[in-house]
Amino acid sequence: MDVVEGRLFFQGRLQRACVGIEDGLIVAVKKVLRGGEHFDFGDRLVLPGAVDPHVHFREPGLTHKEDFRSGSLSALHGGVTCVLDMPNTVPPVIDRAALDDKREAVRGRSWIDYGLFAGIAPTTDVASLGPCVGYKVFLGSSTQSVLLREERDLAKAMDAVGRAGRVVSVHAEEETLLTHRDERSLREHEECRPRQAETAAIERLTAYQERARINVCHVSCADSLAMLKASRMGFEVAPHHMLLDASLDLEAWGKVNPPLRRKADREALFQAFCRGDVPMLATDHAPHAPEEKERGFGEAPSGVPGVETGFSMLLALVKRGFLPLAVLLKAACLTPARTFGVNKGEIAEGRDADLVVVDPREIVRIKGKELHSKCGWTPYEGREALFPQAVFLRGRPVLRDGSVQEEGRGREVPYA
Ligand code: DOR
Ligand code: ZN
Repeated sequence: MDVVEGRLFFQGRLQRACVGIEDGLIVAVKKVLRGGEHFDFGDRLVLPGAVDPHVHFREPGLTHKEDFRSGSLSALHGGVTCVLDMPNTVPPVIDRAALDDKREAVRGRSWIDYGLFAGIAPTTDVASLGPCVGYKVFLGSSTQSVLLREERDLAKAMDAVGRAGRVVSVHAEEETLLTHRDERSLREHEECRPRQAETAAIERLTAYQERARINVCHVSCADSLAMLKASRMGFEVAPHHMLLDASLDLEAWGKVNPPLRRKADREALFQAFCRGDVPMLATDHAPHAPEEKERGFGEAPSGVPGVETGFSMLLALVKRGFLPLAVLLKAACLTPARTFGVNKGEIAEGRDADLVVVDPREIVRIKGKELHSKCGWTPYEGREALFPQAVFLRGRPVLRDGSVQEEGRGREVPYA
């Protein structure tokens, strides 16, 4: 048995204790444990690794923006030990062959563990897709997305998802309420993709909430929060909708779908998050190359990177007293793991020993050039973050004193 010692987040609070690890699993949590290798982190925090239920690592076909190696390295440095990867690639992962090909292509190349989503297009036969972590449906068009427009296609998809028993994550913007015209600013982008497109999509989904387990992706406005609270659906909020808004001078670097909205929406989302009213944090890490973002506002693709900065910026906000640690860890670790059936997300016997070590004294300012995504930029330049000093993946240190080791140890999570 190996042992990791420090100030553990265990049973809802921080306490000086030891985690005992065997075969990659947590087998004991006690005040004192002795074993083979002993990693003593003193008074530093030992937290569960974050599980990010929404990233775009761009394989296959868009690997000039990101690939599994660079995306997972970026996640690792942000304290994320498991990501769930989206299917809007080239080709899109919307059938069995594409899913099998992607599984083969990424195998052995990830620094951290991962699950793969399958997209549902009108032609997709959900029953024949084979194992996947969940399903993705786009109700509004975005980067390389495959839409489900017709009600009968959506109904068919929801019934099939219900039978499969796994969660469907939905990009909830109603296509018929989006305006496709040349846009010149974040404000205009927001006008072309108004909040009503989001609330209408959520309304439409409500009709299916008894038939399928629905997760509404990247909720962007205050109005949606109230609707979701009264529903059976789960949802995610992305760091950019809590920390950025359309009044900032970000130009196309802040262009994302759903759009950045007003300051009042940003504040409402962040406050709901701090209260524990947001089930899941999801970064929607959507990197694009700088040349693509520099094409001019109208031409620039939508999406911002975030897998390295999401959990780490929120940890800094915990340190600054804005947000309770227990609330962050529930939304960033526990609930995503439970929702998608991943054996991670908490320090508890029987869970994967995915541990993140942070020193709360070591707040730093984010520099895009120092991040590990292939895209090389961030909309959070200069903001505070608490990056991990060490990360354990299933009991082995993959990051230690700023150096990475055991490349390619990440594996696809089992789908129970
Ligand atoms: O802004 C976005 N970018 N929204 C999406 O839904 C897709 C994503 C991407 O893949 O770039
Ligand atoms: Zn996305």
